[in-house]
Amino acid sequence: MSKAFTYPALRSTRENFKCPSCSQALTLNAESQPKTYSCTNRHSFDMAREGYLNLLLAQHKRSRNPGDSDDMIRSRQRFLTAGYYSPLSEAIVNQVANSASGSDQTLIDLGCGEGHYMQQLRNALPDLKLLGIDISKFAVRLAAKRKMDARLVVDSAFNIPLFENRIDTAISVFSPIRSEETARILKPGGTLILVGPGEEHLSGLTALIYDKTVPHAGNPLEATAQFALQETIEIKRDISVEGSDILDLLTMTPYYWHSRPEQQQMLEKLEKLETRIHFYLKIYKNGSSE
Ligand SMILES: C[S@@+](CC[C@H](N)C(=O)[O-])C[C@H]1O[C@@H](n2cnc3c(N)ncnc32)[C@H](O)[C@@H]1O
Ligand SMILES: [Zn+2]
Repeated sequence: MSKAFTYPALRSTRENFKCPSCSQALTLNAESQPKTYSCTNRHSFDMAREGYLNLLLAQHKRSRNPGDSDDMIRSRQRFLTAGYYSPLSEAIVNQVANSASGSDQTLIDLGCGEGHYMQQLRNALPDLKLLGIDISKFAVRLAAKRKMDARLVVDSAFNIPLFENRIDTAISVFSPIRSEETARILKPGGTLILVGPGEEHLSGLTALIYDKTVPHAGNPLEATAQFALQETIEIKRDISVEGSDILDLLTMTPYYWHSRPEQQQMLEKLEKLETRIHFYLKIYKNGSSE
């Protein structure tokens, strides 16, 4: 007898995914095809073995494997697991604990990567319904292996496969975001927590790569018509990155592509890198009138 399928079924029809071909609701027929989501127009999408759904249609891809590469994702997972950004993950968890304090709360992580921040949220908030989306299938596959009771989907944050007004809280950590699309899937008054680099982020690393100091460009989403900024939280620390974590840090950032082979070799041999980390968390409410 085959083993019962244990993927958490959708807890309410309001949380259905939207079919990327025809925009009808995708539902899971738990009895006849427990791993296949389909719409009334018979478009169907199989869950991957690891338990995620790939809704990114070939015609919506700009490249064969969009988003971060397997190498970048694995480097980021090792680096984040080592705890270098823990002041940031603690701040994210605190904010979500404040904003998603009621019962039956749903959070989406837009550009969730390998799921580091969702895992921290799951550890602290066991009742929170988690949904993660990333355009990189390598990232989503690794996130699915965490078995953290999150629904995970490969798709673009610019075209989220959800219906309107579904989500209480969205987070976006160092990922691309489109404000209209995020506002569409958030409930009115829902919270967006946007995390981006401060001007001095990784200044110790960039000093070894660039001749001139290059301050970080800052946050990708500034004031928009859809959102009202409630609060900005700044986090600034000096950290000491050791051994192979230095190359992981380089590989997980775009600086890898800006560095010359001899700089990469120098960083590979370095025993310790002192650098500043600098983040802004911007807390927005969905709806400009509040
Ligand atoms: C710098 S990483 C951050 C990942 C994760 N939030 C973290 O902090 O660990 C940016 C992520 O955005 C993803 N990404 C890029 N374009 C995207 C898009 N249009 N929609 C969703 N994810 C996207 C990449 O695949 C990558 O995982
Ligand atoms: Zn369809």
